[in-house]
Amino acid sequence: MSVVVVNKIDELRNLIKDFRKQDKTIALVPTMGCLHNGHKSLMEKAHSIADVTIISVFVNPIQFCPGEDYDKYPRTLQNDIEVAESAGVSVIFAPSVSEMYPNLNKFSDITMVVPPYELTDIMCGKSRVGHFDGVETVVTKLFNIVQPDYACFGMKDIQQLFLIKKMVKDLNMPVEIVPCPLVREENGLALSSRNKYLSDDEKVKALTISKSLFAIKESFKLGIKDTKKLFDVGLTNLDKNVELEYLEFVDFDTFQKVDDIKSNTICAIAARVGDVRLIDNVILEV
Ligand code: PAF
Repeated sequence: MSVVVVNKIDELRNLIKDFRKQDKTIALVPTMGCLHNGHKSLMEKAHSIADVTIISVFVNPIQFCPGEDYDKYPRTLQNDIEVAESAGVSVIFAPSVSEMYPNLNKFSDITMVVPPYELTDIMCGKSRVGHFDGVETVVTKLFNIVQPDYACFGMKDIQQLFLIKKMVKDLNMPVEIVPCPLVREENGLALSSRNKYLSDDEKVKALTISKSLFAIKESFKLGIKDTKKLFDVGLTNLDKNVELEYLEFVDFDTFQKVDDIKSNTICAIAARVGDVRLIDNVILEV
């Protein structure tokens, strides 16, 4: 069956009404498009757990901070349709900005969903102030529009995944969040829509990001539990032209900072290669 592309909320709701009449379960994969194999693995997971897979393709303006890449973020809907179709997606919801935010010109008019400050004043939230408010707001809107049984999110955006799981729990949203493993290129580079911006030379430098994380994981396996020492291992492996934004160790269940690893811990990094900001992480399992 070929994928249906809809741009209007009412149109999508009518399709969903029909699916529900047929007792079909629905899995949603929210995306900003420029779909790669990482997204494909989310869509395939969705397809394997529900009768109908719906993806959203929407570059959400309110999660970009001033000076970020909102205008140049790659928009590749034609290719996205092909990728989605090959992964068994039934419907692509690709709304315009005005369909999602009729009052965007009056930004303060939008009701926002805001995660706890303590969980956003670290890692990506620290430099991208307000980013997760924008993410939670659009994800809440998508959940309200689609009312899916499941929603699949990738573990590359590990802080986003943690905050969305918490939001769903705190606000009693009737949807099961399905975390999906981070997908890498064969050489170790974490797949990201922003990899498109990298030149060949920058790609080589970017590779040292995953290399640092793998070196940390190896040292951890060899018995180093002190995160200060593990931090130094990471730094030693990072190309000197890669600008480190953060390299943090946080508890897998609480997202609190860890000094001495005693339970499953996320080691997460954000770094800039030229103008391109990349993130990656590994889980240090106890
Ligand atoms: O992870 C993303 O691509 C975005 O943050 C999301 C979840 C689609 C919300 O715009």
